[in-house]
Amino acid sequence: MSDHLHLNLFTMASVEHVSPGSWTYPGDRSPEYTDREYWTEVARTAERGGFDAVFFADVRGIYDVYGDDRETAVEKAVQTPASDPQLVVPAMAEVTDDLGFAVTRSTTYTHPYQLAREFSTLDHLTDGRVALNVVTSYLQSAAENLGLDERMDKETRYDRADEFLDVCYELWEESWDDDAVEIDREAGRYTDPEKVSAIDHEGEHFSVPGPHGCEPSPQRTPVIYQAGSSDRGREFAAANAEGVFASQPTEEGVREYMTDVKSRAADHGRDPESLNFFIGVVPIVGETEAAAEAKHEAYKAHVDVEATLALLSGFLDMDLSELDPDQKVEHIETDAIQGTMNAFTKAQPDREWTVREVAEFCGLGTTSPKIVGTPEQVVDELEYWHEEVGVHGFNVKEVVRPDSLTDFVDLVVPELRERGLVPDPDDAGDAPRGDGTLRERLLGPGQSGLREDHPAKQ
Ligand SMILES: Cc1cc2nc3c(=O)[nH]c(=O)nc-3n(C[C@H](O)[C@H](O)[C@H](O)COP(=O)(O)O)c2cc1C
Repeated sequence: MSDHLHLNLFTMASVEHVSPGSWTYPGDRSPEYTDREYWTEVARTAERGGFDAVFFADVRGIYDVYGDDRETAVEKAVQTPASDPQLVVPAMAEVTDDLGFAVTRSTTYTHPYQLAREFSTLDHLTDGRVALNVVTSYLQSAAENLGLDERMDKETRYDRADEFLDVCYELWEESWDDDAVEIDREAGRYTDPEKVSAIDHEGEHFSVPGPHGCEPSPQRTPVIYQAGSSDRGREFAAANAEGVFASQPTEEGVREYMTDVKSRAADHGRDPESLNFFIGVVPIVGETEAAAEAKHEAYKAHVDVEATLALLSGFLDMDLSELDPDQKVEHIETDAIQGTMNAFTKAQPDREWTVREVAEFCGLGTTSPKIVGTPEQVVDELEYWHEEVGVHGFNVKEVVRPDSLTDFVDLVVPELRERGLVPDPDDAGDAPRGDGTLRERLLGPGQSGLREDHPAKQ
């Protein structure tokens, strides 16, 4: 595995992702999320900054938990409106060579045969630069719109997710031999039928005879990303994920999470050191400390507390409009996103958070640490997380778009390169990157396919 740290730009093809209200900041270009040119510019900037991937979050349904209606969410653009991220990827791939693309998809509301086809297509079109961020979805309104009366409970969602990936693995890994496609014009034989097999999957949720409808793509299976904090979520990450998102807000929480998921991965027969752990960060950088502080204050002034509460109400499946803003947040076990809850309760048992404090904190990048300072100070912090805590990389969360990205690329990345924390394109001594697939970027040259110890190969 590479020693360099890895960078994902964590974004969403929508007006707002995780900094509600920042679209009102002067000069913010979030409303351009519908424009191809906006995304090709983001792709070029991220590639210039040596990012490994642009990571698209995605949600199904609408944030109608707050106040028991959708008004706040719609008025304030809380992750709605949003475009389908996977359709944005080919345009971004066209203008880049090395940048990867992680796309979030829900195993609850699609079919594995269909998804396997879509990701094989994306992997072909991007020359092996695609990752799948597996989620199980949390909004009740998603269920209602996608053919269910009720959201499935979390256990059932994860049961389905387990089987969903099993089907995908069979389609991606087993259905077509490497040399199945012959393109023998003289014989009139495109594919050797002996080298394409059915998968005959019969399970509780899916019946898929196969074979896969696509020929093998450069990575076959896209790089698998996952972020689960509950017991089932951690188990799912340990069994499947190559990139794991730790959403714990404290160092202690991140350390505990990594130790736990690594030990579970070992139980699945995997080398725990082959998993890449990422944490979310919200860098707010200025040429001087005072400039960075001023920027932070200006950003805070644009946090929309009500919109943040609407977002968090969806994350927690709990109507926060019913609580007194100065009331202490009490721990609950939620069927939605447990990690968000844990961030303010279990992870920080000595600190009490009120509803208002949580909303103000989460208004800039939700639960992730804000790193405010000069490029040197920001890199000190990233270096600490990488060298001392052992995280492999960062999901860089935006506040103002595209300034958060351009600030990072123009101010922070030169310092990261200077310290050798990310590869410097001008450094001829850097090892060749193989064919340049996303998995090779994460695991090293020659590793375009899943590792042999991955459960999908066993
Ligand atoms: C960093 C991070 C990113 C996530 N991105 C998404 C997303 O884009 N869409 C989504 O539906 N869920 C997303 N989730 C939710 C998780 O994937 C997971 O489904 C959720 O946390 C519920 O499982 P858990 O209780 O085991 O954590 C994200 C969670 C984290 C921590």
